[in-house]
Amino acid sequence: MKEREQRANEDSKIVALGVTSSISIYKACEILRGFQKKGCRVRVVMTRNAARLVSPLLFSALSGGAVIVDLFDERVSRRVGHVTLAREISLLCVAPATANVIAKFASGVADDFLSTLYLATRCPVLVAPAMNEAMFLHPRTQENLRKLRGAGVEFVEPEKGTLACHDEGWGRLASPERIVEEGLRILSRTESLKGVGVLVTAGPTREYLDPVRFLSNASSGKMGYEIAREAASRGAEVTLISGPVELVPPAGVRVIKVRTAADMEREVLEAYPGSGLVIMAAAVSDFRFTRTARQKIGKRGLAGKVDLVETRDILKTLGAKKKGKVLVGFAAETEKTIPHAVRKMKEKKLDLIVANNVGEEGIGFESDDNKVFIIRPDGKVLPTDKMSKREISRVVLDQIEAVIEEKRK
Ligand code: CTP
Repeated sequence: MKEREQRANEDSKIVALGVTSSISIYKACEILRGFQKKGCRVRVVMTRNAARLVSPLLFSALSGGAVIVDLFDERVSRRVGHVTLAREISLLCVAPATANVIAKFASGVADDFLSTLYLATRCPVLVAPAMNEAMFLHPRTQENLRKLRGAGVEFVEPEKGTLACHDEGWGRLASPERIVEEGLRILSRTESLKGVGVLVTAGPTREYLDPVRFLSNASSGKMGYEIAREAASRGAEVTLISGPVELVPPAGVRVIKVRTAADMEREVLEAYPGSGLVIMAAAVSDFRFTRTARQKIGKRGLAGKVDLVETRDILKTLGAKKKGKVLVGFAAETEKTIPHAVRKMKEKKLDLIVANNVGEEGIGFESDDNKVFIIRPDGKVLPTDKMSKREISRVVLDQIEAVIEEKRK
């Protein structure tokens, strides 16, 4: 019995609960209890001001472990505490979160254990703000919230009601039940693609005329990189085949860099047998030059003499030998977005296609934001709002998981 309990304990997920100095700090005890009741282990990290409001002993007694306040706490720093904890945890939940900690996270300041942990961890981060309405609605705070949202941080929005200062308004910490529920939703999501081989392509390709000139497009690769990152965070084994882009590879993802459509095709075909799900977010060049010169061609030799041929359609090739795999395409359109995407979906035998209008200002190629139409196998079209590409990647993966589930039935 003891052994079984111990094993269950080892299997359970660790949540780092970040507690900052808001009057609603007392609710953090219930949040801690809520996570524990659902089988999570909780490590509490307090800011120094929070530890002045409430003794860390209270959280230590509730969590059954030491509470971390100080970055230079000897017990913690011996093991480079923030790095060790950053790797162990499955969720960082900051509740209550003051305007100050939100500002620190948004600007990358790391001057205490909690803000250092935020920078060091790659796990999902959930923040529940709590402050006076004026502080919450202040343009700086709103800007910081937007920044963090863009960086993938998730929020449990504060509620409207009576605040600690006796004012009525926005800024009251969400209920502990809502915060725990949201945390658990994130934790369950992180396992949803466990063991699935996912192949993602991203970025443009370059088709060379000679060693210095090439034909390409404006794809930044951001959408594909976010998809790869999100799939990895859900437990998938991700291979990302990327055209030339200036992006940091997502953690835990195998990245293969390519340049031309032919290189991409070769690598995709190689990785295809080991993948259950393929998401082609790359903007593969439709044309290449008939010949690539070994040496730079002088300008006199160019005008009127350049011929193009079509590249092979990688996704169509995959569709022809699909065998139970799930294939997802992207459609970059400038007009008739949905009809064009539906046609591509049929022609390439896709399970889902994500269409966007790349001609629209502020979304699509090169932008941090996107607004897409997700077209399902039953023809249903799900439009999204304009959101960060990180948020879009979550919505797209939720829909892909729904399709995988339907196919299993
Ligand atoms: N695609 C591909 N191989 C190509 C061209 C496109 O695998 N040679 C994939 C893209 O990665 C994308 C989907 O096909 O997932 C649709 O790409 P898009 O450029 O929108 O459409 P095309 O099929 O190239 O058609 P068109 O250029 O006529 O719009």
